[in-house]
Amino acid sequence: MSDNQVFPVTAAASANTHCTKDNYKALYEQSVKDPDAFWGKEAKRLDWITPFTIVKNTDFTGDISVKWFEDGTLNACVNCVDRHLPEKENVTALIWEGDNPDDSVHVTYGDLYEHVCRFANVLKQQGVQKGDRVTIYMPMILEAVYAMLACARIGAVHSVVFGGFSPDAVAGRVLNCESDYIITADEGVRGGKHVPLKANVDEALKQCPNVKSVLVIQHTGGIVGWVEGRDVWYHEAVKSVTADCPAEEMNAEDPLFILYTSGSTGQPKGVLHTTGGYLVWASMTHEYAFDYKDGEIYWCTADVGWVTGHSYIVYGPLANGATSLVFEGIPTYPDASRFWQVCEKHKVNIFYTAPTAIRALMRLGEEPVKKYDRSSIRLLGSVGEPINPEAWLWYYNVVGEARCPIVDTWWQTETGGIMISPLPGAVDLKPGSATLPFFGVQPALVDADGKFLEGAASGNLVITDSWPGQMRTVYGDHERFKQTYFSAYKGLYFTGDGCRRDADGYYWITGRVDDVINVSGHRLGTAEVESALVAHAGVSEAAVVGFPHDIKGQGIYAYVTPPAGVEATEDLRKELVTWVRKEIGPIATPDHIQFAPGLPKTRSGKIMRRILRKIAENEYGSLGDTSTLADPAVVDDLIKNRRNK
Ligand code: WTA
Repeated sequence: MSDNQVFPVTAAASANTHCTKDNYKALYEQSVKDPDAFWGKEAKRLDWITPFTIVKNTDFTGDISVKWFEDGTLNACVNCVDRHLPEKENVTALIWEGDNPDDSVHVTYGDLYEHVCRFANVLKQQGVQKGDRVTIYMPMILEAVYAMLACARIGAVHSVVFGGFSPDAVAGRVLNCESDYIITADEGVRGGKHVPLKANVDEALKQCPNVKSVLVIQHTGGIVGWVEGRDVWYHEAVKSVTADCPAEEMNAEDPLFILYTSGSTGQPKGVLHTTGGYLVWASMTHEYAFDYKDGEIYWCTADVGWVTGHSYIVYGPLANGATSLVFEGIPTYPDASRFWQVCEKHKVNIFYTAPTAIRALMRLGEEPVKKYDRSSIRLLGSVGEPINPEAWLWYYNVVGEARCPIVDTWWQTETGGIMISPLPGAVDLKPGSATLPFFGVQPALVDADGKFLEGAASGNLVITDSWPGQMRTVYGDHERFKQTYFSAYKGLYFTGDGCRRDADGYYWITGRVDDVINVSGHRLGTAEVESALVAHAGVSEAAVVGFPHDIKGQGIYAYVTPPAGVEATEDLRKELVTWVRKEIGPIATPDHIQFAPGLPKTRSGKIMRRILRKIAENEYGSLGDTSTLADPAVVDDLIKNRRNK
C-alpha cells in the first residue's frame, strides 16, 4: 500500500474535538519535554483522596522501576462510579446485549453503584481482603464488570481469565498468583452454545487446594456440580448484604489487577498494573483516541478477559462517565448482521473491534451490513493486530459509509492502553498505519544491534521512556520483567513488534518479531502450544510457528515428531488437535499438524525456527543458509510433507 493514500481529517471529526491539527504537535511536544507538568495537570481528571506531589519517578536502567503519582491516594471504583452520581445517577453506564438478540438491559450509574457495593460486600463476606488476588472467570455478563469494580473498591487485585481458556489454563493462573477466591458463572453462552464455566472451574481446582471460595453467578440456570463449604451462589449470598460499602483508600502504586499474557518463552506471565497511572492512561486515551463526548454510546466488542476489555469496556469509559456496551455474543450469531443490528438497536456512536472480525465479515459481503441503519456511528476503531489496507478500506467504505474516521490503535497488555493511534480530529489517516504516538509516548526504531534508526526506516519498535499506563512488573517475578522487556536493548522498553516508519513519521506495525503469534488478535506463545503438545504421549518433540492466515491474521502450524514405535496416523493428528484445545483452549487450535521424523537443528541442538516458518509460509525458495544444520536432509523431508493450506 502506498504511503501516500491519505484520508485527511474530516470537518465532522474536527468539529468540537478534544485535539485539533493545530494543537496536537504542541501538546505532544509538551508531553514528552515536560512530563511532570503535562501529567501533573492531566492526572487531575481523576478524583484523588490525597493529591500527589510527585508525578514521575521512573528508571529504565538497573533494576527497572516505574512509579507515577507515587504519594497520591485514590480508589479506582470511586473514580468509575461514585463520583459520577451527582450528575449521572440516572444516566446509562452499561448496556448489556445478550447472545440472544431479545435480551438487553440498561444499567444507570445509580444502579451500577448499588450492584458494585453489594458485590463488594459479598466478597468481604467471603473473606476477601485488601491485597488478596481474586480470579474472575466469567462470560460477558454485567456481573463480570461488577466483580472487577467490586475488587477495586475493596482493594483486592483481580485476575480475569478469559472464559475460553481450559481448566488447566485456569489452574496455572490461579496458582501463579496464589488466588484463594474465584468468581465464575454456571455457564456462558456464545453463538447459542453453552460454555461450562463452573464445570471447568471444578476441574481446574483439583489442582488448587488453596482455593477457599467459589462464588457462582446463576446465568443460564444450567445444572452444575457443587462442593459444599467452598461453592456459594451469588444470588443467595447477596440477600444478606447491604449496598453500603465504603471504598478503600489505595496508593497510586497499589496493584489494581493482574492479567496473564503470553510471551516468547515459558508459561504466560502476570502483567501487573497499578491504580493511579493505569487509570489516568485508560481514561485519557479513551477520551482522546475515540474523541468521546458526553452522552455518546460507545461499544468495544472485546471480551473482558483481554486487556482491551479491561481498559476500553470497563476502566476507561466508566472513568469518563460514558455509556459502555457489553456484548455477550459473537459477530455471526444469529447471523452475520449481528454487529450492525446491535448498532442500530442501541444507536451506537463509536464502534471498536478487531481486524479479524472485519476480515471474517468482509468475506460475507455487503448485504448483511447494509440491512441495518448505521447512521448513528461516527467513529470506527481497530485493535489487536495489524489491519491490512483491504480490510481497512472495506471497514471505512462499507461499514462507515466513507464518513467515519478509523482509529487503528496499537498497544499491548503491557502498555495498559493505546500508544500509537490517530486522534480523529488531529491526524490524517493512512489505511494500515497506526499513525502517530499518543501524548507521552516516545517510540523509536532500532536495528538488531540496538542502533537507533532515523527517518524512514524499518526495525524493532522500542519505547524510550515511561508513560503512566505502563505495567510495573511481572507478578512475583521482577527478574522476568527485566529480562523480557529491558534486556534486548539497554535502557529501552522492547515491544516485541517489528515496525516501519514512513517519510511522514507514520508508524506501520508489521507484527511480532519474537516467538509470539497473534491468532485472531489473541496472543499465544509458541512455547505454550509446544509444551501442550509434548505433554501428549504421542509426541516426543514439537515446534510451533505462525503462518499468514486470511481471516485470523496468523494461524498455528505445528511440526510434531512422534516417539519411536508410535505411528503418525490421521487419528493421532485429530487427537492432538483436540488435546491442545483441551490443554489451552479453542483459541490455540492448531491449523496444521505436520508429522516430521526430524526437526531442523543446529549442531548444538537448537531448532532453527526460521526454516520452519519459511516452510509453513510456503516460501521454500528463501530458506537461507542451511549448511549449519546437523542434518540438512530433514529439510527436504519437511518440504515434501508440507501440509496443504
Ligand atoms: C498486536 C492487545 C498492529 C501487536 C491490545 C502487539 C497490533 C500485540 C495492534 C499486543 C495494531 C495490537 N496494529 N498490531 N493496531 N494492536 N497489535 O497484549 O503485535 O493482546 O504487540 O494487546 O498485538 O497484544 P495484546
